[in-house]
Amino acid sequence: MASVEKVNAARSALARIPEKGVLGLGSGSTVAVFARMLGERIAEGIIDVSVVPSSYQAYNLAIQYGIPLTTLDIHPELDMTIDGADEVDRQLNLTKGGGGALFQEKIVAFASREMIVIVDESKLVEKLGSRFRVPIEVLPFAVGVVTRKIRTMGITPILREAKQKMGPVVTDNGNFIIDLEFPKPIDSPQELAVQLKMIPGVVETGLFVGMADEVHVGTGDGSYVILRHDVENKKT
Ligand code: A5P
Repeated sequence: MASVEKVNAARSALARIPEKGVLGLGSGSTVAVFARMLGERIAEGIIDVSVVPSSYQAYNLAIQYGIPLTTLDIHPELDMTIDGADEVDRQLNLTKGGGGALFQEKIVAFASREMIVIVDESKLVEKLGSRFRVPIEVLPFAVGVVTRKIRTMGITPILREAKQKMGPVVTDNGNFIIDLEFPKPIDSPQELAVQLKMIPGVVETGLFVGMADEVHVGTGDGSYVILRHDVENKKT
């Protein structure tokens, strides 16, 4: 059973969906709630959208709920992406990848004119890395090299182990996930994201910097929206 917070976040995002268009469909348990609602709207003939899935999970959700599928080859520009997050900081930077999906999620979000994030309040933090480790997706061949480099940066790398399979988690793209544990919360996610991407073998990071346009926060009795626009205006 989905929590009421997730249902309220998903419902809030649903109100933002255009009557017609092409969306990116993120991954995770909150997105699963959203996909069910989206499927219902499509079945009722209220909206006419197709989605590019960001993972096998999203692909399966689309099939399960009767949401038409398309690809980035057909639609390299999307109207918007709806996705969850593991942490959201004060500038609306995100940590993602808790469910092992992050690489295709980032591509789909990058292809979108808007990124709408759906979370409950427990995901809101002052700085990223506060409660959640930052995942990076790594080419299996490079795991030893990447791990050594990460340690020299004062960060603890933890190879993510699979649950009902022996050995490491293998992503939708055939790579491994290394979760990064920081000695203190991250001051500059932008700088860190660049440093990590410079390491050969790191295919992508779970740091989504400056990508989220709206964060829809589900609560026990409703929802509220944090807009990037408002956050940016506050800074000046
Ligand atoms: C999947 O790997 C993630 O990026 C999810 O979007 C993120 O973990 C949020 O998932 P939940 O909605 O399940 O918390």
